[in-house]
Amino acid sequence: VKSKYQKIKGTFDILPADTRLWKEMENILHNISEQFSYEEIRTPSIESIDLFKQNVGYETDVSKEMFTWEDHSHQQIALKPEMTAPVVRAYIEGGFFRSNPLCRLYYMDSLFRREKPQKGRQRQFNQFGIEAFGSSNIEQDVEVIMVAATCLKALNINDTTLHVNNIGSPETRTQYEALLKKYFAQNTRSMSSLSKKRLDTNPIRILDSKEKEDQSIIKNAPIVKELLNDSEKEDFNMLLSNLDALNIKYEESPYLVRGLDYYNGTTFEITTRSNKSQNALCGGGRYDFLVEKMGGPSTPAIGFAAGMERMIIESQYQVGKNSIDIYISSNDLNHSRKCFSIMQNLIDNNYTVFFDTNKKNVKNQMKDAIKRSASYLLIIDKNITVKNIKSNDEIAVSDFHELLNFLKNQ
Ligand code: HAM
Repeated sequence: VKSKYQKIKGTFDILPADTRLWKEMENILHNISEQFSYEEIRTPSIESIDLFKQNVGYETDVSKEMFTWEDHSHQQIALKPEMTAPVVRAYIEGGFFRSNPLCRLYYMDSLFRREKPQKGRQRQFNQFGIEAFGSSNIEQDVEVIMVAATCLKALNINDTTLHVNNIGSPETRTQYEALLKKYFAQNTRSMSSLSKKRLDTNPIRILDSKEKEDQSIIKNAPIVKELLNDSEKEDFNMLLSNLDALNIKYEESPYLVRGLDYYNGTTFEITTRSNKSQNALCGGGRYDFLVEKMGGPSTPAIGFAAGMERMIIESQYQVGKNSIDIYISSNDLNHSRKCFSIMQNLIDNNYTVFFDTNKKNVKNQMKDAIKRSASYLLIIDKNITVKNIKSNDEIAVSDFHELLNFLKNQ
C-alpha cells in the first residue's frame, strides 16, 4: 500500500525504533547543560525575516535559504533557520542582562533551511546548542568548548576533530576581507563559478568552498592570524594551552571563519573524521557585537550548536530495549471495570502495562507477551490470575493489594 501523502522533501519522521535513542540523547544533553549551570530556553518557531537577514548576514546560506512568507497583516515571517539570533532577541526582550550578568542558556529545537537535501543535510533538522552571555574572558571560550567535548564524549562519539581559530575583531575582519579579495581577484582563472560570485559579495566565504578547483588557491591564501594584535594572539594561545591541559585534542585551522556574519575572536568546529561531505557536527564561536547590534547593551557572548541528526548517526551509544512489566488480558466486557481499576492502580504504582484491546485468545496473548518482552501476564476474568512469564509461576489473587504483594515479592 502507498500513502496518498508523502513527507515534504528534506524532512524526516523519527520513528518509534529511533525515538528511544533520541530521548536518551536528549536526557544526556539536558543533564550535561545543567551540570555546567546552563538554563534551558525555548523560542517560537517563527520570527521576523529581518532578524536573520540583518544579523546572520544577507549573503550567508542560512539567511538565503529560509522558508519565508508574508502573512495576512503583511508581516514578513520566517521559520527559524538557526537559534543564536532568536536567543539574543529573547535575551534582550527579557532583560536578562539586568537580572543575570553572566547568563548561560541552552536549547534543543527544530530548525528549517531550504538547502538542497542530501545525506546529513535536511530541510528540517534539530540542533542542541548553548549561548553564554556576559564574559569576554578566554576562560568562557574554554568552558564552551569543554561543554561541547563533554557532550560528544557522553554520546560516545569518538572519531572527531576539533578545529579552532581566532578571527580577531570586526576591524580585523574588514582588513582580512580586503586582503582576501585582492588575493582571490588575482587568482580567478581556475576558480569555481560559485567562488567567483562570492568574490564581490562575501570573499571570506570562498575559504569554505568545497569545490575541487578552489582548493589549491585556498591553500595559499593569506591567513587571518597575521593580522591579529598581541592580545588576540595571547588569548588564542591561552585557549590552546587550556585545551591541552584538559586533554582536548584540536587542530589549528587558520581558514576556519564560519559561514555566519556575526562571529569575531574564537571560532571552532567539530567534524567527524569520515569523508562525508556533511561532516560538521558542531560549530560556534564568539559574537561580542551581536547583542548591541540588535539593540541591547554591549554584551560579549559565545556559543555553539550541534546537529542532532548528525550526532545520532555518529554515536556508538547503545540503548536498551523497551520492556513491558505487565501484559493485561481481559477479554470479557463484564469484567472491564475491575480490569480498568487494576490497570489504573498499576500505572499509579509505576508499572508499565500493555492492554490487549484486540482481545486475542489467551494462548496468542501469551505469545504476544513474550514477543513484547513482558515480565508478567495478568488475566482478568471472573478471577484474577498473574503469571511470571520467565519462571511460569502462577497464582490467583483476589484484589490489587494481593497482586501488588505478589509482584513485590518476585
Ligand atoms: P551552523 O554551523 O550553521 O551554526 O550549524 C550548526 C550545526 O547544525 C552544524 O554543524 C550541523 O551539524 C547542523 N546543521 C546545520 N544545517 C543542517 C542541515 N541542513 N541539516 C542537518 N544538520 C544541519 C549555527 O547554526 C550557529 N547558530 C551556531 C552558534 C551558536 N554559534 C554561536 N552560537
